Amino acid sequence: MNPPAPDPVLASFPQPFTALVAGANRGIGLAFVRHLVAGGQARRIWAGCRDPEAAGELAELAAVAPAVRILQLDVTDEQVLADAAREAGEEGSTVELLINCAGFLHRPGGPQPERRLAEVRADWLQESFAVNAAGPLLLAKHFERLLPRRDRVVFASLSARVGSIGDNRLGGWYAYRAAKAAQNMFIRTLSIELARRARGSICVALHPGTTDTGLSRPFQAGVPEGKLFNTAFSAGRLLAVIDGLKRDDTGGFFAWNGERIPW
Ligand SMILES: NC(=O)c1ccc[n+]([C@@H]2O[C@H](COP(=O)([O-])OP(=O)(O)OC[C@H]3O[C@@H](n4cnc5c(N)ncnc54)[C@H](OP(=O)(O)O)[C@@H]3O)[C@@H](O)[C@H]2O)c1
Repeated sequence: MNPPAPDPVLASFPQPFTALVAGANRGIGLAFVRHLVAGGQARRIWAGCRDPEAAGELAELAAVAPAVRILQLDVTDEQVLADAAREAGEEGSTVELLINCAGFLHRPGGPQPERRLAEVRADWLQESFAVNAAGPLLLAKHFERLLPRRDRVVFASLSARVGSIGDNRLGGWYAYRAAKAAQNMFIRTLSIELARRARGSICVALHPGTTDTGLSRPFQAGVPEGKLFNTAFSAGRLLAVIDGLKRDDTGGFFAWNGERIPW
C-alpha cells in the first residue's frame, strides 16, 4: 500500500477557489475532500453525498473544517441535482473545480459484475448506466451555470481504465465497462460544448488506479504487489494531474500518473 500522497498545490486555479466533490462521503471522494481541506486554498468545498444523515466521516470532517459544506446530491435524480445547484449558487460564487466520484460496480447482496453473457441483466445495465454514464453528464447539466466563463475551471469525472474499448483484453463486467465507455464519450462531447461557453474550461475523464475502497474490495485478490493504492494516494495523484492539465488536454482520458489512456 502506498504512503499518503503529499497535498498538491493546485496553483493553477484562481486563489481562493470553490470546489465541488460528488460522492464525497467515502472512498476516493472523501479523500479528495480531505486533500482540499489540507491544501487550505478552497474558500468553499461542496461535499455532495446521497444521504447526509449517514455520512459520518464526512460530517466529522465538516465539523472541524468550516470550508466544507455537505450538499445532498444524487447524480441520478435531476430534482435533487437542481436543488443542490441552487443551494450552491446561493452563496454567489462560481465553482472552479468539480470532481465527480459517484460510481458503482456492485452492491453487497445485489448483483455482482458479470463474468459471462448469461449473467447480463437489463436492470443491472440500466442502473450502471444511470450512475456511471448519465450521472456525470446530469451533474454537469445542473452545475454548468455556476462555472466561471473566463477563469480556469476543471470538470473531472472518475471513469475507469476498464471503460477503455481499446484496452479491453479480458472481457466481462459488461455493465460497468460499457457505462464507463459511455461516460468517456459524454465527457468528450461535453468538453467541446463547454469550451465554447467557458473559455478556460477543461473537461476530463480520470482513472484513479486500483484503489482500496468498498468498490474494489471483492476484486483485489489478483492485484500485483504495490499496485493497490490507498485513497489518499489516488486522490493526491489525481489532484496533481488536474493541477497540471492544459487547455489542450480537454476531452482527454488520463490515469493517476498523468498518462493518457486509449479510448
Ligand atoms: N476503487 C477503484 O479501484 C476504482 C478504480 C477505477 C475507477 N474507480 C472509480 O472511482 C470512483 C470512486 O470510486 P470509489 O472506489 O471511491 O468507490 P466507493 O468507495 O464505492 O464510493 C462510491 C461513491 O459513489 C457514491 N454514489 C453511488 N451512487 C451514487 C449516486 N447515484 N449519486 C451520488 N453518489 C453516488 C457513493 O455514495 P453512497 O455511499 O451513497 O453509496 C460513494 O460516495 C467511481 O466512479 C469508480 O468507478 C474506482
